[in-house]
Amino acid sequence: MTTRGISVSGDSGSEPGDELTGGIAAPRGVVELDSSFKAFANDHAAKLVARMFDNPNQKNKVVDIAGPEKMRETIEFAPPVSGENKSFQELSDLVDKVLHFSVRTAHPMYFNQLWAEADPIQVLGEWMATALNHTMYTFEVAGPFLLMEEAVKTSMRRLLGFPEGKGSGIMCPGGSMCNLHAVSLARHAKFPDTKKTGLFGLARCIIYTSAESHYSLTKAAFTCGFGTDNICKISTIDGKMNVEELAAKCAEHKAAGFRPFMVNATAGTTVRGYYDPFNEIADVCEANDMWFHIDGAWGGGCLMSSKYKAHMAGANRADSVTWDGHKMLGSPHQAAFLLLKDTGTLLEDCNGTKASYLFQPDKPYAELDTGDKHVMCGRRNDILKFWLAWQVLGNDGYDRRVTTIFDTARYMAKTIKARQSEGFVLICEPECTNVCFYHIPTYLQADPVAKEMMAGNVDALREESSAAFVEKLKAVPPLVKVGMMNEGSMMCGFQPDMGLPNFWRFIVANPRTTPTYIDDALNIIQRLGEATAPVAE
Ligand SMILES: Cc1ncc(COP(=O)(O)O)c(C=O)c1O
Repeated sequence: MTTRGISVSGDSGSEPGDELTGGIAAPRGVVELDSSFKAFANDHAAKLVARMFDNPNQKNKVVDIAGPEKMRETIEFAPPVSGENKSFQELSDLVDKVLHFSVRTAHPMYFNQLWAEADPIQVLGEWMATALNHTMYTFEVAGPFLLMEEAVKTSMRRLLGFPEGKGSGIMCPGGSMCNLHAVSLARHAKFPDTKKTGLFGLARCIIYTSAESHYSLTKAAFTCGFGTDNICKISTIDGKMNVEELAAKCAEHKAAGFRPFMVNATAGTTVRGYYDPFNEIADVCEANDMWFHIDGAWGGGCLMSSKYKAHMAGANRADSVTWDGHKMLGSPHQAAFLLLKDTGTLLEDCNGTKASYLFQPDKPYAELDTGDKHVMCGRRNDILKFWLAWQVLGNDGYDRRVTTIFDTARYMAKTIKARQSEGFVLICEPECTNVCFYHIPTYLQADPVAKEMMAGNVDALREESSAAFVEKLKAVPPLVKVGMMNEGSMMCGFQPDMGLPNFWRFIVANPRTTPTYIDDALNIIQRLGEATAPVAE
């Protein structure tokens, strides 16, 4: 490309690194890039690689539990006072201590959250991105990475069923940020003047979301100025948004002079892992001129599985979709995508301010800059790791990854049902890879409510007459959790939800978790549960 006689070339000319600094000594106040740094760097990298290989080994604990006091005793957290900075040897010791206290989220017995092992290839990609230290706002600094991001988003939109993968989108630091962007984009799409005037003078605008949706929608709604009074939580039927209620609420709100303007549906609810009925919701959105967003931060990953992608039927009708790479697809935190149907300029219309010092329109390739599509300025290079992994795993590899964890969750549900007589009670059949269940220890099994539960009636817990039993049952998971953390044998979360007292929410997110690990985990929960029996005086 030539601009006023000045040749601008992206493809030829000098090799990177041609312009050397001529051996000028590094100025004081930086880490000297000398042989001692090189030795430390090699040792450090070797430790991290060794940890990756070590993680799935069952002789390692998932966590070596320590409270803040023990951690403070072992590690000096405060930065050193003047003159007491550490040598590389001391730094290496410090790294060992930090590694020791770090939970092994890659361990196949880690079931605590909606993510687990960071895919080793993606870890390497993350190191590379960090070492290169770009930011994603302009093509001039992020050239190949912006092209990567565009190509990956197109492939993801194709999986969503957007025609020819067309559309737009941005990467964000997390699903919550994607959902925040979605609410802001919906506002701009429906009321573009609000960018200038704010919400003043608008009718009350209502956002609909299911009672089981993620809390980030509530945060997004109040952050965007709509207020929590204007989020309408629609009840669920068997974990899915009640679409009849949604339509009725829209009609009621319109009659009251309000403006229904957005529906958030969920693909993989946080606790149960359920998928809302997207096609039916899309019908209601079309009938009422509402923006249709799908929060697929967790469950969107099933699009990679030929066996399970049907859960996403109707997602092609959404205006926007949140989809996290750092949950089901093994990216290290974070790699989240907001994918839009819009093929125009909605993103920059909504978020752009045209800062002249960054987005000069008269520089080469300015049209490829992405900074004005985002609310953020600097933005991490989150794409490289994901792109590298897709290169090596391919669609088939991702298909196997996602299908494996879905199959394993189904194995677990089947096993829980098969072990009902031992006190295991499945709360609901898994759709995603969340498995919600109870284990009733033997000493509680004689209670009539326990008997009802073990006959398959979990609703017995909701009856007022069950209050005394509920008190005893809800005390079990916190004690078992302490036991598993003390042993370091596994990690799994529990919570009260859906009107039920504390139950186990077990997430299968690591394809290295084979059915044998599932059996082990159930045995641990059973053994520790039995140990909660009150000791006779
Ligand atoms: C359904 C759903 N949406 C959004 C989020 C938020 O995602 P992130 O943690 O990437 O911000 C979560 C997190 O668990 C989630 O379960």
